Amino acid sequence: MKFFIDTANLDQIRKYRDMHLVDGVTTNPSLAAKENTDFRSLIKTICDLVQAPVSAEVVSTRADEMFAEARELAAISPHVVVKLPTIPEGIKALARCVEAGIPTNMTLVFQPLQALIVAKIGATYVSPFLGRLDDIGQDSMDVLSVIREIYDNYDFQTKILAASLRHPLHVVQAARLGADVATLPPTVFDKLLDHPLTTIGLERFLADWGKMRPEA
Ligand code: E4P
Repeated sequence: MKFFIDTANLDQIRKYRDMHLVDGVTTNPSLAAKENTDFRSLIKTICDLVQAPVSAEVVSTRADEMFAEARELAAISPHVVVKLPTIPEGIKALARCVEAGIPTNMTLVFQPLQALIVAKIGATYVSPFLGRLDDIGQDSMDVLSVIREIYDNYDFQTKILAASLRHPLHVVQAARLGADVATLPPTVFDKLLDHPLTTIGLERFLADWGKMRPEA
């Protein structure tokens, strides 16, 4: 399973990249707006930093304009993956991107039929937003497992990118169900390696080592 980082913040991307945890980056308009800088330059810098897939989202809502934006974003770097909302106009833009060879990430997916449709058209990634489903009392992992089953039934090549993850258990569950990628916010990255028994165990080892008397 690949780990993407769900942020547009360069310091955070550098931090986890240096720990060899980052296989790619996802951004969205809300995350990009937080950085308050020129979006295209920011995406270029992120691509240069990670040299791996970087999702950049269009903000138009009509297919023609979405496709024009997609072409501009894709021209920034070969690492750019264009994120399109899974709405009817987004589907039309997806078909044009597929024809033009532009990698895509279909976002705001909440049910298996949306995932089936984008795979049929040839999306590179599909992003089911798992945490947002849990937030409204729906079983996000059930949705993820149905998407996996459908994709396996038809051997679709679209990669399942588990998104909107809120905690480490989401990551474990998504891995068990066969998501190809998990995109994690920095808060979840921070918790991945954290276990109290690891911390206590190391403290004890070092304390015991400190008590050792040097041989005469
Ligand atoms: C994924 O690509 C999205 O940017 C992200 O995972 C959304 O997460 P949120 O529901 O925490 O905003």
